[in-house]
This record gives sequence, C-alpha cells and structure tokens, in this order.
Amino acid sequence: MICLSKIKVAIVGGGHRGSSVYRVLREVDNVQIIGLADINPASPGMILARRDKIFTTDDFTELVVNPKIHVIVEATGISEVQRKIYEIKSSDAAVMEAMAGNFFMTILQAKEELLEVKKLKGELGAILNSVQEAIEVADNTGLIKYINPAFTRVTGIPEAVRVGKNIFEASPHGALAQALIKQKPVVGYRSKVGGSGVEVISNAAPILVEGQVEGAVVVFQPITDILKLMDELQKSTTIIENLYAKIDQITGSKFTFDDLTGNCKVFLGTVEMAKKAAKSESPVLLVGESGTGKELFAHAIHQASNRRGKPFIKVSCASVPEELLESELFGHEKGSFTGAVRTKLGKVELAKGGTLFLDEIGEMNPYLQGKFLRLLQDRQFERVGGSETIKADVRIITATNVELKSLVRKGRFREELYFLLNVIELNMPPLRHRREDIPVLVEHFIGKLNRKLGKKVKNVDPDALQLLASYDWPGNIRELENVIERAMVTVDSDIFGRQHLSPYIGQFNAGATNVYTEIVPLDKMEQMMLKAALNRFGETLEGKKKASQALNISLATLYNKLKKYKASM
Ligand SMILES: Nc1ncnc2c1ncn2[C@@H]1O[C@H](COP(=O)(O)OP(=O)(O)O)[C@@H](O)[C@H]1O
Ligand SMILES: [Mg+2]
Repeated sequence: MICLSKIKVAIVGGGHRGSSVYRVLREVDNVQIIGLADINPASPGMILARRDKIFTTDDFTELVVNPKIHVIVEATGISEVQRKIYEIKSSDAAVMEAMAGNFFMTILQAKEELLEVKKLKGELGAILNSVQEAIEVADNTGLIKYINPAFTRVTGIPEAVRVGKNIFEASPHGALAQALIKQKPVVGYRSKVGGSGVEVISNAAPILVEGQVEGAVVVFQPITDILKLMDELQKSTTIIENLYAKIDQITGSKFTFDDLTGNCKVFLGTVEMAKKAAKSESPVLLVGESGTGKELFAHAIHQASNRRGKPFIKVSCASVPEELLESELFGHEKGSFTGAVRTKLGKVELAKGGTLFLDEIGEMNPYLQGKFLRLLQDRQFERVGGSETIKADVRIITATNVELKSLVRKGRFREELYFLLNVIELNMPPLRHRREDIPVLVEHFIGKLNRKLGKKVKNVDPDALQLLASYDWPGNIRELENVIERAMVTVDSDIFGRQHLSPYIGQFNAGATNVYTEIVPLDKMEQMMLKAALNRFGETLEGKKKASQALNISLATLYNKLKKYKASM
C-alpha cells in the first residue's frame, strides 16, 4: 500500500484503547483520522474527537464503509464487530487490531508515553524558569545537566559555562555533590558556590528512578537575601512587640480614688495625702503589708495626676528574675547579651510622660539601685549595652512591704536612694487596724461580684458580718476579697449568710479552737490551706516563701502542689 497522500484512518471503539490510539495518531503528520465510532457518545475517544471536530458516529458501519479509508483500527475487541468490519469494508482497507499486548498497541503506547513526557518537560521547564530559587541538576556521575535562569542570576555563572562541567570539580563541597556522595537529602546546607564565591543556603536531594540514584538536584538561595528578610522581619517584630507592650500598659491604669473604699480616720488620712501627692511630681513611697491596697493607690495617684492620659507602667522587682530586671527597666541594645536578638525598649522608656510603678522595691539589687538612683537624680539612663544617654520623663511611685529603713540599716538598701524615694511616704494600714471598714468593704465587694458573677445578693446576714469582722485578715483586703468571692459562688438567694462562709470557718478559727465544722476530703483541705496561705502572704516570690514556711513544706514542694491543683484552685 503506497500512499502519496495522507494515510486515512478510521477508529472503531472510543474506550481506553481507542482513545489512546486516537491521541497518538492525531500527532502523526502523515496520518489523517477520518472518524471515530462508538455506541457510547460519552466514551473518552468520542469526547476527544468531537472536541477536535472530527467525524463521530454511534454506528461504526456508517464509518467503515467509506471507500477512501486505508486503515481501520479495531479497538473494541468484540468479535462480532470484527466480523462485521471484514464483511462490509472496502477491499483496499487494512484492519489493525488494537489488542492489549500486540505489537501495534505496544508501539502506540510507547509513543503515547513519549508524548506525555514531552508535555511534562514543557511544563517543568516553564516552572524551573520562573522560580526565584536557583536550581542545578547533575546526573549520577556528577555531570551538570541543567541550571535554571535563577542560578545564573544568583551566581553570575552563565549556562554555557556551567552545564557540561562535573559537579565534583565545579563545586565539590556544595550540597549537590554531598547529596550524590551520600545518596541522601542534604537540608539547610551553608556553602559557597564554586566558581562564584556567593554564599548560599541549599537543600539538595538525590533523584531516584525505580530505586536507582540517577542524579541529584539542588535548590538554593543566597544568604544575603535570607539575611535581608530576617532583618526586616526582626525590625517589624520589634515594632509590634513594643506596640503591644504600650497597649498593654496604657490600658493598665484602671482605678481612681473613687474605687477606694473605706471610711475610717487613718484610711481617709492616707487618701487625703495621696490626693495631694497626685498634684506633685515628687516620688511617692507606699508602705504596707501585702494586700493593703498599695497598687490601687498607685493607680489612683496616676489617674489624679497631670500624667493621667499617659502610660501607667508597673514593674514588680520581685517577680522579674534578677538578671533580667535591668533590661526590663532600661531596655537593651541588640546583641548586648545572649538572647538580645533585637533592641528592646525598657519600661522607663515605655512609660514616657507617664508613671512608673515599682513594686517591691526592697528586692532590687545594689547594682540596679545605683543605676536607678542616677535615673532619679539626673533623669537620664543608658540601655543595657548602649552608649547613648536617654532622657527619662517618668514619675516614680514605689511600694514595699518591708521596712526600707531596716534594709538600709542592714546595708542592703542605699540610703541616698531611700531618701529620694520617700519624699512622700504613704502608710497603708493593715485591715485589722481598720476593722470598722470591714462592712463597707464587704458591701463593696458583694456589689462588684454581683455584677461579675451575675448574682443578686442584697443583704449580708449580721452573723456572717460578725464572723468576718472578728477575723484577723493577715492577707488584708486581698484575702477578704478572695474569701467573699469564693463564698459568693455558692450563694443562690439574695442573702449572704454565715453558712456560705462555713467552708472557710475552720480556716478562720484554726489557730484558736482547732474545731472544724465540716469533714472535707484531705486533698480538698490541702487545696484550701494552700489557697489560704497564698491569700495571706500574697502570690509574690516573697509571699510564696512565707507561705511554704507557714505550711511547713519546702518552696519546691509548694510549687509542685500548686502545679498539681492548678486547674481546680
Ligand atoms: N480601699 C480599697 N477598696 C477596695 N478594694 C481594695 C482597697 N484596697 C485594696 N483593694 C483590693 O484588694 C486587693 C489587693 O490590693 P493591692 O493594691 O493589690 O494590694 P498590695 O499592692 O498592697 O498588695 C485588690 O484586688 C484591690 O482591688
Ligand atoms: Mg501588690
């Protein structure tokens, strides 16, 4: 059969085999597909042919009788169809059976796979050309087969120079050579690209074909790009962190003198003095046991001062680890110590224009006392690791529950600093010295807790009040507030009664009578005692130390127990 024109082909069957024959033959120049037949119009071959505007029919006899056809491909495998084709076809037409496994089909399939690979190669090429990362591929002998345009951009080495060289000579210490030698992926590898000196971070991996290493591929980026990105990230992070700190602090001052409850003479005297202090810029020293309202007063003074619109910032000298306190207060420059990966503003700077409240000032170490003294005297300071002198604009309020005078006597607190801090000294009376205020405080807290807990308590049973008034309150107002809060949770009428306090009665009477009105599980009792101790001594480090002494356990045991009961306390 000699054809000068194109070979005209008809395909019978549009299923898996027929469509694969169709796909291959339509790519062959010398072949013209006349039509495709299948009784199923939705078969893949029919869909393809319709899309290509090739003749389709559900009746194959209509197709194969065409006398112009040179070859009929029988792709149904149905013997009846085959018989019919031989019966009606023109005598010139050859019939080829597209049967799985026969010679004709094997060649067609190989050809089809090749077409697939070509398509894939085209797609891959487009991807490799457009990525920002540099890519290099070598075969298993180290021969460099491919580099992408980004490779040339990053290293300055043109394709003509690189491709065809051997990687073991060109970049023997690079990730690509390593991946070939080790036959394993190499991740985050830092090296210089041979022939260019550009420092890069690479990831490389062997290319496996049916379990055999056929080569390797490396993807890399110059370090300068990465460092630039990291630098930018760091700058933004610093800004964000500082903003967060500011937001945190600015919204930090929430109490005013109106929030201070109490009518007794000593208390009102303290309030009067505090109001006067608020009008001045002088440092204020608040002295009193834990839970007496020192922090509340600091807030109120700030709110009543000219600095009210500015930040109120609190630093507790006891709860920040000693080695971090300096940087917490004064900030640090990038790189000034391990872990100082970026410049950080200290609380003194964050409080600019506002008030800095230093709680438990007695805990400050002598070195920091010196630096702090300078802040008070010269109104300036340096960040940790910094040489620039920064002007400080803060009003200082300090608080202590230990007598600073006694620390001065013991040589643990600098006398000059003490004199600078206590220009105005406010003494917070302990609650047991102002028992007459207990009823108003109870009323105040019940009102507050009604709102918080959604309760409707209107009255307090005189019995309950009497019990509360007779207790010593070593944990002061904080302890009172906590006891009321826990009792309130169990109140479901509008009267707060003695029975609501009963779980804590034992606690109140423990020292005096050792009588417990109720039997409670021991672990429950343990929790109660832990809570009571913390209420009494406070949750600061100092408070926890005292609590552990009172409970006759070590500090470590106290921490363990707190951890254990964390969820339920
Ligand atoms: N005069 C007061 N009126 C109302 N609540 C108070 C008063 N004094 C203290 N409190 C409350 O008691 C708790 C402890 O007060 P805080 O100022 O933290 O004490 P301190 O700093 O002395 O340990 C806080 O919850 C506070 O709101
Ligand atoms: Mg406090």
